Amino acid sequence: MPTASRVLDRVLVLEMVRVTEAAAIAASTLVGRGDEKAADAAAVEAMREALNSLDMDGTVVIGEGERDEAPMLFIGEKVGTGNGPAIDIALDPLEGTTITAKAGPNSLAVLAIAEQGGLLNAPDVYMDKIAVGPGFPAGVIDLDKSPTENVTAVAAAKGVKPSEIIACVLDRPRHEALIAELRAIGCGVMLIGDGDVAGVIATTDPDTTIDIYMGQGGAPEGVLAAAALRCVGGQFKGRLLFRNDDERGRARKWGIEDLDKQYDLTELATGDCIFAATGVTDGSLLDGVKRMKGKMTTESVVMRASSGTVRWVKGEHRLG
Ligand code: FBP
Repeated sequence: MPTASRVLDRVLVLEMVRVTEAAAIAASTLVGRGDEKAADAAAVEAMREALNSLDMDGTVVIGEGERDEAPMLFIGEKVGTGNGPAIDIALDPLEGTTITAKAGPNSLAVLAIAEQGGLLNAPDVYMDKIAVGPGFPAGVIDLDKSPTENVTAVAAAKGVKPSEIIACVLDRPRHEALIAELRAIGCGVMLIGDGDVAGVIATTDPDTTIDIYMGQGGAPEGVLAAAALRCVGGQFKGRLLFRNDDERGRARKWGIEDLDKQYDLTELATGDCIFAATGVTDGSLLDGVKRMKGKMTTESVVMRASSGTVRWVKGEHRLG
């Protein structure tokens, strides 16, 4: 039997695009329809069906929730035909359910796969995140440092003033103090309504002008973003945040003992991994699904950590 690494390499890389394409196309029929749940359900069902057609012994390690709260793609669900090596999968069939419902920018169908044990089994809690793109000295960002210290370090490494740095932050009341501190040092703050996987990845693309991503978002999205940065370069730190004992209990259930740990990129996504995404709506990373007479188009990206290969895939799909 081929090794898991070889299967990741040769067999599954492009297959992953079919999976995220299927989810994105399904969700796209509900863009702007004001129904987050229906859009999510359509993406989940399509992604599950696509995954189940693949020759692999897949296990969902980050999915739609725990078995008792998610009917499909729950944590621990086995996907694939069962033939082939063991693969762990982190997925978000629709990253940006509200965006999709409101036809806003940057919603994605996204997943990451790794050899068994390669992805942190992050519970569905918040994560404090900080990220920069490639080219900075190791350790330039640190969650134990203040926002001012981090921005100052990134600015120094870039050879500019802190007032020339742009930070991307989720627009949430919980970030009021963070935004005020960043603006006090003159840093530009690009507020996004949702979709921090795209927000983190945007730090790797100079065209977005985003230098640093900061703030609290979903922990599963943190693992997905970390997997992407493992492939394209950059730095990411994450720390799980718990609001109550139930959330702490969930983390312990998945084997997390040090609840205060600051995770580095390589601890969130270890070893070789593949990240794939297809745009549902237009965004900084990808164009969304577009329908025209007789066909629709998709844009996807698939990347692999061990080789650093990034493939952009434009799909044309015949309608009907
Ligand atoms: P959903 O697709 O689950 O709606 O997540 C969108 C999102 O913006 C994520 O990108 C982000 O990590 C999380 O929600 C932030 O959570 P909250 O909306 O509770 O601040």
